[in-house]
Amino acid sequence: MKSESLSINYKSFSNFNELPEVYQRLWNEALNARKSSYSPYSKFTVGCAIELEDGSVITGTNQENAAFPAGLCAERTAMYRAGIHAPRTKFRRLAICATKAGEDILQSAPPCGGCRQVMLEFEKRHQQKFEILFTDASGNFIVMESATNLFPFSFVF
Ligand code: THU
Repeated sequence: MKSESLSINYKSFSNFNELPEVYQRLWNEALNARKSSYSPYSKFTVGCAIELEDGSVITGTNQENAAFPAGLCAERTAMYRAGIHAPRTKFRRLAICATKAGEDILQSAPPCGGCRQVMLEFEKRHQQKFEILFTDASGNFIVMESATNLFPFSFVF
């Protein structure tokens, strides 16, 4: 038996003004996208924006359903939208932001496990890692350089 350990590297910015402009711009796209969140059940509005390699931006929001598991997260609506509209265009970075409905206070919004698995699939499909930006529970802006850092021991097939 061997005891192993894992460590992950990420960048942390304590406020929005500290963020490099490329992240600020994508963050604002994700914030703006929240307007189309359909979240009458959780009242938790999530916006996601993906910057593609050609500079275009594709957004997504959480889409809920009365049968709860039939709903979908903002990250997955954005990624699948990109997969349909620009199947071969690689991702540069993806930003996720969340607030309670009707509020502007940022909530902690690291992606859920299912979305992390889908992010890995896009890295595999495009043979390119992409950055992931979200806020943590202390309000810091976190930048991960790849979904592999977020999801060790992911499912592979
Ligand atoms: N949600 C996301 O959009 N992304 C995540 O990574 C986790 C959760 C949504 C799903 C649901 O509409 C609401 O947040 C509360 O779980």
